[in-house]
Amino acid sequence: MAKEKVTGKRENFVSKFGIIAAAAGSAVGLGNIWRFPYVAGENGGGAFLIIYVIFVTLIGVPAMLSELIIGRRSKSNAVGSFRKLRPGSPWYLVGVMGVLTGFLIFAFYSTVAGWTLHYTYLAIIDAFHGLSGDQLAETFEKFHTSALLPVFWQIIFLILTAAIVIAGIEKGIERYTKILMPILFLILLILVIRAVTLPGAGKGLAFLFKPDFTKVTAKTILEAMGQAFFSLSLGMGVLITYGSYIQKRENLTDVAGEVAFFDTLVAILAGVAIFPAVFAFGLKPEVGPGLAFLTLPGIFQQMPGGYFFAIIFFLLLVVAALTSSISLLEVTVAFLTEEFHLSRKAATIWSSLVVAILGIAATLSFGVLKDFKIWGSTIFDFLDNLTANILLPLGGLFIVIFVGWVMNTRETKAEITNENAMKGRLYGVFLFLIRFVVPVAIALVFLYSIGLIKL
Ligand code: PFF
Repeated sequence: MAKEKVTGKRENFVSKFGIIAAAAGSAVGLGNIWRFPYVAGENGGGAFLIIYVIFVTLIGVPAMLSELIIGRRSKSNAVGSFRKLRPGSPWYLVGVMGVLTGFLIFAFYSTVAGWTLHYTYLAIIDAFHGLSGDQLAETFEKFHTSALLPVFWQIIFLILTAAIVIAGIEKGIERYTKILMPILFLILLILVIRAVTLPGAGKGLAFLFKPDFTKVTAKTILEAMGQAFFSLSLGMGVLITYGSYIQKRENLTDVAGEVAFFDTLVAILAGVAIFPAVFAFGLKPEVGPGLAFLTLPGIFQQMPGGYFFAIIFFLLLVVAALTSSISLLEVTVAFLTEEFHLSRKAATIWSSLVVAILGIAATLSFGVLKDFKIWGSTIFDFLDNLTANILLPLGGLFIVIFVGWVMNTRETKAEITNENAMKGRLYGVFLFLIRFVVPVAIALVFLYSIGLIKL
């Protein structure tokens, strides 16, 4: 039955800045610095960027606001929230799908997070010193296709994440993200300056900013939408869960707008830091998941103080990955503790063990398991594509339909206007977007990408 009470007192974020730091901490991560540049690289650059920004604005922001509304209205986890708002209906299954999606994402996310730990270590021992572009490529190739080392770092990363989640997030993560996210941003700016002054930088910038729409295919559009959902942490209940910790006085529309803006800015800056180096070092923009690991060490070498910047940068990338993976794990932990009354510790440990099994398979799919294919993809690529391009947009579709068509306007307007304390001028626009534009857009992209409709 769906009517259990939440046990104990639920925590809240204490400040507006804390909310933004936690939500942006979830949004800003490997998705921005590792995934965005390589997916943009594989999909033609500039045209992809434009489509991406359109998706963030028209779909991402309204979908994010929808999750925040569900979370704060219900003050409950991703599954319990649907049960509370519409008891006895099957809508809670959207939350269940979100929890399962979280496991799949966390599995391959921890693979890459493990790489960032190893690269931090390499930076500390100055292993990139004097290496050419080819040698950097070789270093990455050897490392990520081997068995022991990537799995070792992945497990370390999982333990770190679990330790923080067990300790409770607010006191740790809210506090540290507030300091670390601005530092990450600063270092990225410094890297951008170095990158755009590299010889031949213009080619990279042109690739990122000059749209060539002849390269746009159904796949480009699907990937841009998937990247928007992935990067903003949408469609699996992260923002339902975090929204449930937001106090009644905060302005949810502002939160959604600010997080989306900041997340997009970081992705674009990462692209500006990486693409000039791609061309300067004679790489191809479509090299795939290794892109950031091949280019950044090369930039560091070509700048004064590069040794220190490399260490700090990879360390901060680890932190960015951590603040995102914590949100992934928190969805499951909030669900297990509230719905099944597991202790926080037990919930965290059991979930992490399941993620570890899947995650190790994802890591090994670059090496010993590379010939094991699911519908033609390696385990890693399968998890990456299935979650970002299909499960997250599907979750987002159900979420906006729930807020737009199932919840009534009295409930949703109360959340947007804080029970009429504010004007909520954009409410009409929001309602129009989530009722019509977002569902139709997501459905069209799906149908188009499986070839059922043609433009
Ligand atoms: N948004 C994170 C990133 O860009 O790295 C990844 C992520 C976190 C995706 C949480 C989905 C999610 F629910």
